[in-house]
Amino acid sequence: MKRPVKSIAVLTSGGDAPGMNIAIRSVVKVARTHGVDVTGVRGGYRGLIAGDFTPLDAEKVSDIITRGGTMLGSSREPRFLEDAGKRDGIANLERAGIDGLIVIGGNGSQSGAKSLHELGFPTIGVASTIDNDLHTFEMSIGVDTALNTALEMLDRLQDTASSHNRAFVVELMGRNSGYLAMMAGIASGANLVLTPEFPVTQDEVVEACRTAPRDHSSPHFIIIVAEGSPLKAAQVVDGIQDVDGPFSGARLTVLGHVQRGGTPLVFDRTLAARSAELAVRALLEGKSGYVAGLSGGEYNLVPHEVAIQPDVKVTESLVRLSRVLGA
Ligand code: F6P
Repeated sequence: MKRPVKSIAVLTSGGDAPGMNIAIRSVVKVARTHGVDVTGVRGGYRGLIAGDFTPLDAEKVSDIITRGGTMLGSSREPRFLEDAGKRDGIANLERAGIDGLIVIGGNGSQSGAKSLHELGFPTIGVASTIDNDLHTFEMSIGVDTALNTALEMLDRLQDTASSHNRAFVVELMGRNSGYLAMMAGIASGANLVLTPEFPVTQDEVVEACRTAPRDHSSPHFIIIVAEGSPLKAAQVVDGIQDVDGPFSGARLTVLGHVQRGGTPLVFDRTLAARSAELAVRALLEGKSGYVAGLSGGEYNLVPHEVAIQPDVKVTESLVRLSRVLGA
């Protein structure tokens, strides 16, 4: 018979996302109501390998609701890709008397969590990545806040772009995913969106600029380029600098890590609180090998091997809509 879960650990891994702190807080508060101790692992998988643990209680997680980032710290730890790193991590957890682990993070982090589960250590993930590329999850923690941040910046750029009749090329985050770029493009009325999923050539970009309507009262042209697009933002700027279009000159803005910071918005706060609650309950019920989050319109547990499959949220119909709205 399995022994009851008395002590669990939580870590945040990979790119931080607004809402991770709320997920940590929810883990602590939910676990405490079941009489379960919670240990925080500092610095993601790096801290797991080093045994860098800290006890968490209600006081430690007070006043973190409004803070972006992660109070536990995060890392991208190559040693955790190796068997030795994983085994060291499990040995540290067992030595500390921990019965189960919650991993808050995106694709790479959940691959690591899957390995821990396969090595026999009870592990449950919480879907959290601004890239929104975890398969079957509608929205992961951080996406909504990151999108709103990007949108605010795009609206500001539109003001200056209109004033100078300029083209702006804006790079948004998304290593392998064009989700942020596509959704921000649709929401801001961008003229063109370049994603890794639907690559666009330099010739196509030039043609779109050249044929942009000239009868607009404040002509400008905004091109959003996802970080992972094969045609890079800087190349796009070079390619359109001297195009004979209804605007003159082009400027580059890279929003970068700005999108990862900031106070989490209400959607991310509730998403984080509820996904983490589900993860704790799953561990207490003796489950392992799942990711908790919003999937299929409800809070669900999705097997790790499904969650880390390549995702296809940027669809042809979204591309079509963005072109219609941006024309
Ligand atoms: O995974 C989220 C993300 O923000 C990606 O969009 C981006 O490519 C990457 O992290 C950047 O990683 P780092 O913080 O290691 O530079």
